[in-house]
Amino acid sequence: MDSFDPGRGRAFARFAAGDGADVDAAVAAARTALRGPWRQMGPAERGRILAKAAAMLRERAARFAVVESLDSGKRLSEAEGDLRGVARAFEYYAGAADKLHGEGLPLGRLYVGFTSQEPVGVVAQIIPWNYPLSTAARGIAPALAAGCTVVAKPAEQTPFTALMLAELLHEAGLPAGVLNVVTGTGAEAGAPLVAHPDIDHITFTGSVATGSAVMRSAADNVTRLVLELGGKSPLVVLADCDMNAALNGVVEAIYENAGQICSAGSRLVLDRSIADVFLGRLVAWVEKFRIGHGLTNPDLGPVNSRRQLDIIDAHVRRAVKAGNHVLTGGAIATSDAGGWFYQPTIISAQSAADPLVQEEIFGPVLVVQIVDGPDEALTAANATSYALVAGIYSQNITEALRFARDVDAGQVFINEWFAGGIEVPFGGNRKSGFGREKGMAGLRSYCKMKSVVARI
Ligand code: NAI
Ligand code: MG
Repeated sequence: MDSFDPGRGRAFARFAAGDGADVDAAVAAARTALRGPWRQMGPAERGRILAKAAAMLRERAARFAVVESLDSGKRLSEAEGDLRGVARAFEYYAGAADKLHGEGLPLGRLYVGFTSQEPVGVVAQIIPWNYPLSTAARGIAPALAAGCTVVAKPAEQTPFTALMLAELLHEAGLPAGVLNVVTGTGAEAGAPLVAHPDIDHITFTGSVATGSAVMRSAADNVTRLVLELGGKSPLVVLADCDMNAALNGVVEAIYENAGQICSAGSRLVLDRSIADVFLGRLVAWVEKFRIGHGLTNPDLGPVNSRRQLDIIDAHVRRAVKAGNHVLTGGAIATSDAGGWFYQPTIISAQSAADPLVQEEIFGPVLVVQIVDGPDEALTAANATSYALVAGIYSQNITEALRFARDVDAGQVFINEWFAGGIEVPFGGNRKSGFGREKGMAGLRSYCKMKSVVARI
């Protein structure tokens, strides 16, 4: 199959279109490897391999970042940031591998009871195209730390860095068969993988529709799973905010990776008393953006695919037709580089029920909802079927923490969107999915608990 360079809208490299037979071979290899030298290795030794991989990722970050930028379209500086995060993920779980303690159980003098954490087994990872290497790493690193073996299926738009990661991990000492990558489409390679009866756990990141199809398929085999789906996350700006911090936050929240982020801050919930000043400054900033190929480090890079560009365009056209007011942007952009670009867009929403407010667009399109005070802001924040992340900008710590308490979200940012790192558990509620990745919670997804009780 061809993979495209979104900045030029042209195919730039080819890869194998895997199918059900490749999936069968990969799952069989992972099952065999689960019983091989991998099982004999102590947790500390597994940790040492992951730590070595982290160091190698830092050494080779420049090359990985160029491939990631070319294949996904994202700005090179963002891809370099992703690589730092990926190395940190391996470093973090390297240190955790030998700290997966069980507990002693208090059963009195006549019994000895304890729990232990065992690797869940063969794990499937379905990876999307917006954060190809970051998503692969946040699933693969904890799975390996726990002692699992893995079959990963990267998105057909961005297959290369997952293959490079597999190569690097084997160079770092991973035994053959422990990590397998099958490239190909969702229908040809993804579907047979998640339906495979010999898979013990699935981690899926992607759309709600595909996620629920994966869940149905997992049900047939009673396969456990973590679903990390979409979002329509509210970024609340109260009247007493630090305005510069809030403006920076909004720009990062919705224009990073051209808005193709499940945890993008795609709804600006803005207090009326500062709305004119705030929106004036925001629009002026955005209208100065340089749009261009990711490798040139523009202010705004391309959208990942022609299909995604059409999805974004259709959302905006419908919203305009329904009477929502475009403050800036609102159309497909052209660029000297060619490629798939959408203008940085800000639209004021007519009503909270509008699909503009309710549906994930997954592009550089910010929706503005004007509110009066913190109570209305909270109501607006909670009024979609998604609940992935939420953020608030306020100098009043009490208001900020009340919001954090009352908002439905897996993660809350106060005064810095995307605050945190691999240490912070991540995942959603409601239609945004369930289960947590990252942090020690992410590690437990790859363990199964056993309780042992002896009569003495
Ligand atoms: P998708 O959810 O279909 O694709 C994500 C991954 O799932 C890819 O690796 C794909 O090959 C795989 N896949 C597709 N069908 C499958 C199946 N039946 N069984 C197993 N794996 C399968 O998302 P798509 O079509 O690329 O994008 C559509 C929308 O999804 C976007 O517009 C965006 O709103 C959302 N999305 C959300 C992401 C997130 O980070 N939560 C990431 C990517 C897309
Ligand atoms: Mg590509």
